[in-house]
Amino acid sequence: MQNPLPPLGLYVHWPYCARICPYCDFNVVRDRGRTDEQAALADAIIADMTAHRTLTGPRRLLSIFFGGGTPSLMDPAAVARVIETAKALWTPEGDLEISLEANPTDAEAGRFEALADAGVARLSLGVQALDDASLKLLGRNHDAGSARRAIATAARLFPRLSVDLIYARPGQTDAAWREELAEMLAYGPEHVSPYQLTIEAGTAFDRAVGRGKIVPPDEDLAAQLFETTQEVLEAAGFDAYEVSNHARGPAARSRHNLVYWRGVDYVGVGPGAHGRLTLAGGKVATTARLKIADYIAAVARDGTGFDREDLTPVEAAEERLLLGLRIDDGVAFTEMAALELSPDTPKVKSLVEAGLLADDPVRLRATRQGRLLLDRLTGVLAT
Ligand SMILES: C[S@@+](CC[C@H](N)C(=O)[O-])C[C@H]1O[C@@H](n2cnc3c(N)ncnc32)[C@H](O)[C@@H]1O
Ligand code: SF4
Repeated sequence: MQNPLPPLGLYVHWPYCARICPYCDFNVVRDRGRTDEQAALADAIIADMTAHRTLTGPRRLLSIFFGGGTPSLMDPAAVARVIETAKALWTPEGDLEISLEANPTDAEAGRFEALADAGVARLSLGVQALDDASLKLLGRNHDAGSARRAIATAARLFPRLSVDLIYARPGQTDAAWREELAEMLAYGPEHVSPYQLTIEAGTAFDRAVGRGKIVPPDEDLAAQLFETTQEVLEAAGFDAYEVSNHARGPAARSRHNLVYWRGVDYVGVGPGAHGRLTLAGGKVATTARLKIADYIAAVARDGTGFDREDLTPVEAAEERLLLGLRIDDGVAFTEMAALELSPDTPKVKSLVEAGLLADDPVRLRATRQGRLLLDRLTGVLAT
């Protein structure tokens, strides 16, 4: 019997945001209430999914992830249509995971019920901070009160809840971060993603740092805050299965994110979305048009909104390495043949001796210390 086609996840990008945050470099636009454009985009996304199905053939569907941007601003009827189309195009797994990223304003919390009715069962809530001064500094359009109300509403309406926080904020102390984590944990989310604030090139924060208007914590304090994050979450029963992702047990892990980190195929639809597909033995990268109008026009003209590029075996293996080292499972040496990496390769041995890689004959795995120095690690291994 022939090997069945590999399963896949589906990523849907919704680029609109009520306000653009000064640290964000995702593919986003201000939501100016253009419902005609938003309806056209939802239609284009659905048409693009159908075009992808021709490419993928019949596959099992592991997960659907609505990311952004702010997909909690999406019309719940459009969310339901995307979900139903995906289920009809591919074969949903019994435990198909359907997640959506939401911002915690009162207005959006008022839409959570309709989003749950549309089929979303896992909410990823962008709380970011639990005090007003920090939220103001981050340029967010919600305050701590609305964040608390949104967490409570989401915990009631969705079977699975994940909370995003941003730490290493200008002026943040270790003691305040401990308190903030403790308060957030009291709401009982099954999953927490604490991201260290990254100053992305070209953002308003980048310019503010350049002018000395904001001063992020130095390396030592940032490292201390990372350690505190690991310690507090571990003590609360969460395992750090990825650098910035902590779950209360294996069932609470994000199956969709594991699709990326384990090198499983995924379809990406919506402006700027990326996909990775195994086709005729090789890996193919897909990239959707970045601008909303270009994406809608391309789908209308060609039936698809993406360009495709074949990855070489070395490019595919480098990507596997980069993503695989982020998770505690690491990546199998059998997948590293194109990079000629094995347990006996001298650079692997020396990184094991330096305590940055685990001493494992089967899988290439970063130690906790190694995960702190991932760029260095991948730089050495990929050359
Ligand atoms: C693409 S955003 C979408 C979520 C949602 N729109 C929101 O902002 O709440 C996903 C997450 O990335 C994180 N993030 C975005 N930019 C970041 C940055 N520059 N540094 C650290 N974390 C960042 C935030 O925690 C955010 O919740
Ligand atoms: S951080 Fe979230 S809400 Fe803010 S601009 Fe980026 S995607 Fe939009």
